[in-house]
Order: sequence, then structure tokens, then C-alpha cells
Amino acid sequence: MYRNFKIVPNIIFGRGCFNQLGDILQPRRTSVDSTMVFVLDDVFKGKPLEGRLPVEGKDIILHVNVDDEPKTQYIDQLVAQIQKTMPVKPSGIIGIGGGATMDIAKAISLLLNNPGSAADYQGWDLIKNPAVYHAAVPTLSGTGAEISRTTVLTGPEKKLGINSDYTLYDQIVLDPELIAGVPKEQWFYTGMDCYIHDIESLEGTYLNEFSKAYGEKSLELCRQVFLEDHPEKDDKLMMASYFGGMSIAYSQVGACHALSYGLAFVLGTHHGIGCSITFDYLEDVYPEGVREFRRMMEKHDITLPRNLTKDLTPEQMDTMANVALGLVPLWENCFGKDWQDIMTKERVLELYRKM
Ligand SMILES: [Fe+2]
Repeated sequence: MYRNFKIVPNIIFGRGCFNQLGDILQPRRTSVDSTMVFVLDDVFKGKPLEGRLPVEGKDIILHVNVDDEPKTQYIDQLVAQIQKTMPVKPSGIIGIGGGATMDIAKAISLLLNNPGSAADYQGWDLIKNPAVYHAAVPTLSGTGAEISRTTVLTGPEKKLGINSDYTLYDQIVLDPELIAGVPKEQWFYTGMDCYIHDIESLEGTYLNEFSKAYGEKSLELCRQVFLEDHPEKDDKLMMASYFGGMSIAYSQVGACHALSYGLAFVLGTHHGIGCSITFDYLEDVYPEGVREFRRMMEKHDITLPRNLTKDLTPEQMDTMANVALGLVPLWENCFGKDWQDIMTKERVLELYRKM
């Protein structure tokens, strides 16, 4: 069976296209009561970008904190806050920030139309009702959150996305000017998330020509950004992120992402840096990819944190391994149907002990 998958229907790309956001939202303002919620990463609080938001009437700016990876509890709290402060359900949710902020905005738009807690929907296709209209404006590139059908959340029991066709954005605004000036390490680690998407997709057993076409182009763009220092690197990284996301949408990520999820669940490690830490120990699995990744690190003078797991209890190590091994499609993409013979729990623990 082939998956009939949905993609983001409206995309605007180009330097300065963020200025058109007001016009893009206008048709959604169907009555005098229509309001928008701008979900803004709180690093932009009081910054020029906040002043450029096309806020009208009773719209609100919801500052969100992404120091920690988004939690289901946090989503529930934000949804309750919107319901309490806005008499009429908002006509649109606009996420402005990196992957975590974009994921928070997606989750809010879903939960406004689906009862209960975000934790009830962690899994595949559990969402029953379409989301409130939602749009994204990435200010960091690499995660592919702008194009993915998931919103990755840490719940009480697991780190798992709300995967559904309704999760996908209705509109994305890709303005490369907005990703200039990101702190170097954040820029690098988020970009490596994209690079790793490409490697895991291209080296995986789920690969097909569709995913390959997007993955190869994304990889080429990543090389221009991280090895050649191309003058148009912001435009290129923005497209690499989109193409990398499209590549994994029809294939899957692999061992590195599975292991990074375990690390994030127990230690709260952020996605980009968590993937980078993990990838560095996977030379046996992705030899050429890991070597090139190290060249990129060297070029940008990046030093990975080490000894993250040294103080963990055996129980915590066990939880970490279980979270990672629970991500069956990722392992299957990486090693094929017999992946359990190759990636045993002992091998997973051994890898984590090294980190
Ligand atoms: Fe990723």
C-alpha cells in the first residue's frame, strides 16, 4: 500500500516576503470578531520582528518559551489560556520561530478543535477534527517542522508526535531574511538536523525516487551552506530544510533520530544538538555521512558536549533505551525488517554509555 500523503498547500518564498503576511491572513478575517493568535518565540519579545507582526483588533501575541522541548502539559495550558481570554475561537494560529515554536502552534491549532489533552493524541492519526487555520513563519531552518505532518511533544509517558494530515500547516512563509543572525551554534545544530534527515533518508531501506529527489537536492544545499560558505546560504538552508522535510515525509529518519529521542526524553536534550551528539557515534551505520559531518563541525569550530550519560542510573539508561527502541519504523528504515537482530538493547545501551 502506498501512502497518499498531504503537503502544505500554500507557500510563499523570498527575501522580505514576511511583509505580505497581513495580506495572506486577510481572507481569514471573515467577520468583525475574527482574531488571530501570533504564537511567538519569546526571544523576540520587544524585538523588531514583534513590531512587524500584522496585529489587528483583538488579535493576541502569545509569547512561548522553548527553553525546554515542548511538553503536552504546556500545550494544554496554552490552549486553556486562549479559551479563557478569547470569547470567540481564533480564526488563525500563526507560529513564528524555530521548530519548537512551529510545533507548539500546530498543536494549539489541533487542540482548539479536538477535546482533551495533547497527550491523548500522541501517535498516528488519532486526531478526529480538522485544525484551526494555521500558518508558520520559520526564523530558524533545518528541522523541517514547516513541512512535516507531526508536532513532536514530550508527554508524561513518551516523546512522540501528533502525526496527522490535519497537523500540516495551511500556509508557510519562507523569508530567508528572518534566519540571518541566528546564534552560530543554534544555526549549526538546527542545520545538522536537516543534514541528518538527508543522510537517514538516503541511506534508508524505505528510500524511493520521490524521497531521493528531495534528499539529494537538500544534501547538495547543505554542502553549499556548511562546507562552501555560499553567499546565499540563508536562502539555501531554508530550501534545504524544506526539501529534507519532504524527503523524510515519504521515507523515514533512522538510527540517529531514534537514539536522540531517548536522549531527549531522559535528559531534555534539544533536538538539533541531540541529533548531532548521537550522529557522531554512528560511524558504523553512516560512515560517509559521519565523516562529512565532522568536516562541517571542524569548519565551523563546533565542539560537541560529552559525557552526558555518565551520572544516569541504570533505570534511566533503561528508559532511554526503551524510548529509542520503541521507534520501530525508524529502525526498520535504517536496518530493514530484521533490525532487532542488528540493534539489540545491549548495543543501544553501549552507544548511550559512550555519549
Ligand atoms: Fe529531525
